[in-house]
Amino acid sequence: MTTAKIAVLVSGGGTNLQALIDAQNNNIIKHGKIELVISNNSEAYALTRARENSIDTAIVKRGTEMDIEDQIIKLLDEYEIDLIVLAGFMCILTEKFTSRYPERIINVHPSLIPSFCGKGFYGLKVHEAALAYGVKVTGATVHFVNEVPDGGRIIMQKAVAVGAHDTPEMLQRRVMRQAEWKILPVACEKVCRDIVSKKKNELVK
Ligand code: GAR
Repeated sequence: MTTAKIAVLVSGGGTNLQALIDAQNNNIIKHGKIELVISNNSEAYALTRARENSIDTAIVKRGTEMDIEDQIIKLLDEYEIDLIVLAGFMCILTEKFTSRYPERIINVHPSLIPSFCGKGFYGLKVHEAALAYGVKVTGATVHFVNEVPDGGRIIMQKAVAVGAHDTPEMLQRRVMRQAEWKILPVACEKVCRDIVSKKKNELVK
């Protein structure tokens, strides 16, 4: 095995997915390949980005026979996925799901964890909270996902300055551009490289 198979879970615009696709095309991600993009929102622009790059897509829906997590597990099994990347995926995954994939799920969060994270902190809400608190520095974090929302081991962080006249939207964009789009691909490559070398070692044993 020379590359890890990646599934990216998305709900919205997919700028972080785009950063991963660009990193793959620019050889920043060398030990992984995005095989599948899964969304809980059929309108997500992230799906268009995937299709434009010839990446398979799948939509999971509530209110069907199987719950969302079981639908995702089935897809991950079908594609023999090694690493799950949450890139703006706006559903909290339960322990039933996370315990199946220890250190095989990573998430990008738009603050410096442990600030402004956990239940209820997602998307623009994170930046609204940072501005309301009056912090002068915020940033982004990539971390492993476990049963505690935003509570898994931190892989990488990057700080970003808060401007005196920032709106939540301005801050969100700066955090994405200066931090998220940079650290997510690098963290993803690091984890893929570790997965590949672990699998090679297992084969030698
Ligand atoms: C990103 O800022 C991501 O960090 C955040 O949602 C946005 C998705 O944007 N995720 C969370 O808040 C998860 N707790 P994108 O769809 O353009 O990548």
